Amino acid sequence: MKHLINILDLSVEEINEMIDLADDILANPVKYQDCCNHKILATLFFEPSTRTRLSFESAMLSLGGKVLGFSEASSSSAAKGESVADTIEVVSGYADIIAMRHPKEGAPMVAQDHATVPIINAGDGGHFHPTQTLTDLMTIRHEKGHFDNLTIGLCGDLKFGRTVHSLIGAMSRYPGVKFVLVSPEELKLPSFVKQEYIKDRNIPYEQYTSLDDAIGKMDILYMTRVQRERFFNEEDYLRLKDSYILDTEKMKLGKEDLCVLHPLPRVNEITTAVDKDPRACYFKQARYGKFIRMALMMKLLGVEA
Ligand code: NCD
Repeated sequence: MKHLINILDLSVEEINEMIDLADDILANPVKYQDCCNHKILATLFFEPSTRTRLSFESAMLSLGGKVLGFSEASSSSAAKGESVADTIEVVSGYADIIAMRHPKEGAPMVAQDHATVPIINAGDGGHFHPTQTLTDLMTIRHEKGHFDNLTIGLCGDLKFGRTVHSLIGAMSRYPGVKFVLVSPEELKLPSFVKQEYIKDRNIPYEQYTSLDDAIGKMDILYMTRVQRERFFNEEDYLRLKDSYILDTEKMKLGKEDLCVLHPLPRVNEITTAVDKDPRACYFKQARYGKFIRMALMMKLLGVEA
């Protein structure tokens, strides 16, 4: 049985196949509308979510399956002190596949040891978020046509941003990739990501604290929200929250074919005026999230059209 805990659980070939499948679903949705008949997805969300949970649910419903689950820990027995292990043991008997989001790093790893159905990590604390990365990769392939030789800029909260960690892991496998890391000193990329995915793989990278100085070098600009819920104190959050605001003036410094991504939700790190710029791809990116999750669940469940 296969789970998706870390994006590196999937090979580059498997990711390409999954994007091919997602493209076909996007083009021919009717062909896939019954392929998960009688399958049940459980969405266990111990942390808030809009896109991830709803795109998973929409994905399963569009494949002809059914969904159940909870959207906050307080409405589950976690509030009574139940362990992740026990919850998963039980829900494995109620569903054919489980997507879970948890504030503790590593919780999906515990889950996979207790599951008898595939587990999908829908975000674990400040660690990883592999299905957001699949969405990001599908968007990059649509916009650029390939992954090789791209300069990927990542800006904002590189410390706590789990989407950033998974995207760097995924992109580090393509030849000719470079990273441009833009963050305040306090929110730099953690060493477990930098060492394993950048330094050990001899990938060229540059670090900046100013977005103005860096934006002109990028093919992709991945903006992120400062992760308020991971801060130990509110003062630090308030001091750092507006470190980077991408506006139409800054966009003038970017390449003509720059592709701006953001996993969303945005707070104020991209002004709404940027939405009209054809280089802003974040709403398209959110839309692709449903189709790549359809493809992912088909692969994990071993079903075909
Ligand atoms: C991200 C997350 O949950 O990590 N959101 C998402 O799933 N699209 C990013 C964020 O919350 O900032």
